[in-house]
Amino acid sequence: MGESKIIVVCNQKGGAGKSTLCMLLANYLVKEFHLPVGAIIDTDFQKSIVKKREEDKKIYKGTVITDPYQVVSYSLSNNSQIPAFIQQLRQIGLTYIIDTPGSLNNNGVFAFLALADYIICPFNYLVLTLNSTTEFLRYWHNLKEEALQRTEFEINTKVILVPCLKPSCMGTAAEKELWNKLREHFEKLYFVAPEIPNSTAVGRTNTMVITPEQLKAAGEALNYIANIIYNPNLDSENEE
Ligand SMILES: Nc1ncnc2c1ncn2[C@@H]1O[C@H](COP(=O)(O)OP(=O)(O)OP(=O)(O)O)[C@@H](O)[C@H]1O
Ligand SMILES: [Mg+2]
Repeated sequence: MGESKIIVVCNQKGGAGKSTLCMLLANYLVKEFHLPVGAIIDTDFQKSIVKKREEDKKIYKGTVITDPYQVVSYSLSNNSQIPAFIQQLRQIGLTYIIDTPGSLNNNGVFAFLALADYIICPFNYLVLTLNSTTEFLRYWHNLKEEALQRTEFEINTKVILVPCLKPSCMGTAAEKELWNKLREHFEKLYFVAPEIPNSTAVGRTNTMVITPEQLKAAGEALNYIANIIYNPNLDSENEE
């Protein structure tokens, strides 16, 4: 049993698809990759995933479907305790997926980002979302630099970008060209997953099962992410 994997799903843009991606990835890892996921840790004050699990428990009550992993609430105001909390999780030897709020104005998020193995950042190319994504990436680089200069602590968290929630208005040749150029640019710096398309099935992601429709829509992206995290050979190909 190795150390746990700590994966933080983050983008300061609200509604970027973070919580959906947390649940999709957890379901995929358990059901398709046969990897034990310890928990989704919901640090967002909205508690969307905690609430979803409560709802799902009612929906699946009396069926053969049981909880594939825990859903745990964690308050970011415990920020001084986060390093010890992550240290504890690391020793368990499972996978932990952390959902974060759509805002970086919280010191607790810094601790999770700096101590995680991977940051998964769902984003799209709509100008407003793109601005907050580039802001988030800039913030991330500054945080790394600062940590190195001030404390000589080298942050090794790797970033995986996941294009999703493509706006339906993005369709002209010029927009597609811009999309491709940005993708090429991001690929020089980060891992960039295949796109998760807009799909009603993905919008219905829950904390219990992954459906064939969700696999059809998001399987390629989820497989890419899982391979980066669990296949060390792929992992070394792209360094920030
Ligand atoms: N690929 C997709 N196709 C269709 N709908 C999606 C997809 N991904 C997410 N959604 C829907 O988009 C909305 C926002 O997604 P989600 O709640 O995951 O975003 P979030 O980043 O967690 O938001 P918040 O910042 O409020 O926590 C939800 O209604 C979700 O069901
Ligand atoms: Mg959310």
